[in-house]
Amino acid sequence: PRCLALLPCAGSGSRAGTGLPKQYQPLAGRPLVRHTLAALTAVPRIARVLVVVAPGDARLSNLGAPVEVRACGGATRAESVFNGLGWLLAAGAAPADWVLVHDAARCLVTPAQIETLIDACWSDPVGGLLALPLADTLKRAEGGRVAATLEREGSWLAQTPQMFRLGALHAALAAHAGSGFAGITDEASAIEAAGQRPLLVRGSAHNLKVTYPEDFALAEAILRSRAA
Ligand code: CTP
Ligand code: MG
Repeated sequence: PRCLALLPCAGSGSRAGTGLPKQYQPLAGRPLVRHTLAALTAVPRIARVLVVVAPGDARLSNLGAPVEVRACGGATRAESVFNGLGWLLAAGAAPADWVLVHDAARCLVTPAQIETLIDACWSDPVGGLLALPLADTLKRAEGGRVAATLEREGSWLAQTPQMFRLGALHAALAAHAGSGFAGITDEASAIEAAGQRPLLVRGSAHNLKVTYPEDFALAEAILRSRAA
C-alpha cells in the first residue's frame, strides 16, 4: 500500500477570532498551513497530500506535487474529511492505501512525530493516532459548575495525524453521513463506532492545535525555538 495524507483546511476558525481563517494567519513569516504542509512533505513515505479547502477558496492553488488542493470542504470537519477521502478514491487511490488525516491547524507537528506514527501503525490491522496521556484533572460541567470529576487514569488527548486504511475510514464515516456526522470529532471515533480499537501512539505536547487567540504566540515561540 501507499501512504497518503489528507489535510482538512476548510474551517472558519471561529474560536481564534482572527480576521482571516486561522489556517491562513501569518505565523513566523508564512501562512500557518504552510508550516503544516512543510512537515508533511518532508516525510518521504507520504506519496501524496490532499488539502481540502472550502468551496470557492483559491488561496492555496498551484502548490505543486505532491500537494493537491480540492475545494470540497463540508459543514463539519468530518464532512470535509469524508469528501476528501471520496475524492481520493475517485482519483484512483486504493482502499488498502493508508491515509494520514491531519488538522491543517496543527502546524507544529514534526516529520519525526509523523514517522513515529507511520512506523507504529504500518503493520497494525487497524491503524491509530498520535495522542497524549492527560496531564490535568478532568471535570464535567453543568451550568458552569462541576458536576463530576472524571477518571484521568487511562485518559488520553487525541491529536493528529490519525492513520487508517483509506477504504475502511471512508466506510466508517459513510455510516454517519445521514446523521450529519454527529459525535464524530476525529477519525478514530468513526473507526471505534465501527467496532475497531485504534492504536494510541504517544505524541508531543508541542503538537498543539491552534484554536484560541493566545495559541498563535505559543506556536510562534515553539517554531522560533526550533529555528534557533
Ligand atoms: N475543518 C474543516 N472543515 C470544517 C471544519 C474544520 O476542514 N467544516 C478543519 C479546520 O480547518 C482545521 C481542522 O479541521 O484545520 C480542525 O478543526 P478546528 O480546529 O475546529 O478548526 P475550525 O473549525 O476552523 O475552528 P473553530 O471550530 O474555532 O471554528
Ligand atoms: Mg471547528
